[in-house]
Amino acid sequence: MTKILLLHGPNLNLLGEREPEVYGNVTLAEIDARITALAKGQGAEIRIVQSNSEGGIIDAIQAARQWADGLMINPGAFTHYSLAIRDAIAAVRIPAVEVHISNVFAREEFRHRSVIAPVCIGSICGFGARSYELGWIALTGYLQEQGEKVKLHGGNELT
Ligand code: DQA
Repeated sequence: MTKILLLHGPNLNLLGEREPEVYGNVTLAEIDARITALAKGQGAEIRIVQSNSEGGIIDAIQAARQWADGLMINPGAFTHYSLAIRDAIAAVRIPAVEVHISNVFAREEFRHRSVIAPVCIGSICGFGARSYELGWIALTGYLQEQGEKVKLHGGNELT
């Protein structure tokens, strides 16, 4: 069974009331329910953590190395400067997808840079709450493909 950690960073607990003109009206609970339904439909296991602190996010990433196959993360503002979160993702070597609700590239200049993106398989941004659903499809598709390669080539596939 595929096991995935969904991590939400700071201020995402306020979705629905936080700057709705930027982030929309969907609450975090609604996003979690949608992703949980997707996971259930695929027979995957999902665990969800929201933390407003850098340490809380790092602890969750480190703990995931004991059980998770994949990681989907919206690091919030930490995206733009947390080298510690970047290092944690690199350290655990769990395939990660970065998601953002807003199109960070169409916003303030400081949001154009992600220090997290280089340690992720890929990033999705700008599709509102749907970014999470797209991120889920991307991550589970990637994991399935990797699993098939291992089955086909006995783990000898390098690409
Ligand atoms: C965000 C974008 C970040 O720049 C911002 O700090 C957030 C939310 C997004 O999902 O669009 O908190 O990650």
